[in-house]
Amino acid sequence: MAKAYAPYSKFPVGAALRTAEGKIFSGCNIEVASYPEGWCAETTALSHYMMGGGGKITEIAVTAERMARITPCGGCRQRLAEFAGPDAKLYLCDATGVVETVRLGDMLPYGFRGEILK
Ligand code: THU
Repeated sequence: MAKAYAPYSKFPVGAALRTAEGKIFSGCNIEVASYPEGWCAETTALSHYMMGGGGKITEIAVTAERMARITPCGGCRQRLAEFAGPDAKLYLCDATGVVETVRLGDMLPYGFRGEILK
């Protein structure tokens, strides 16, 4: 979150993914003057995860200083579900730590699944 580039919304967000082997990949939101071109902290973290070799995602943390318990946006739930299973723990955080722990699968009920595309 400290590295967020959010001059337009002034809503910095940080996200981190931890894999079963203990690797941690973090990300921040990055905004663009043409607003729809910006992207979320979770998406940056997923990029680092992919470039860092991937692995089984077991835990996900999201924090935003201006929100007591941020939850990932709909698009990021779908992106996270592409790489993390429904049992991955999702930590909803504030500036001091974890406020609530939920299952990723519980955050995306009836989400689109890509099996048929394979
Ligand atoms: N944002 C995230 O980084 N993650 C979310 O899950 C929700 C929203 C960012 C996008 C934008 O830069 C700012 O928060 C305000 O929407």
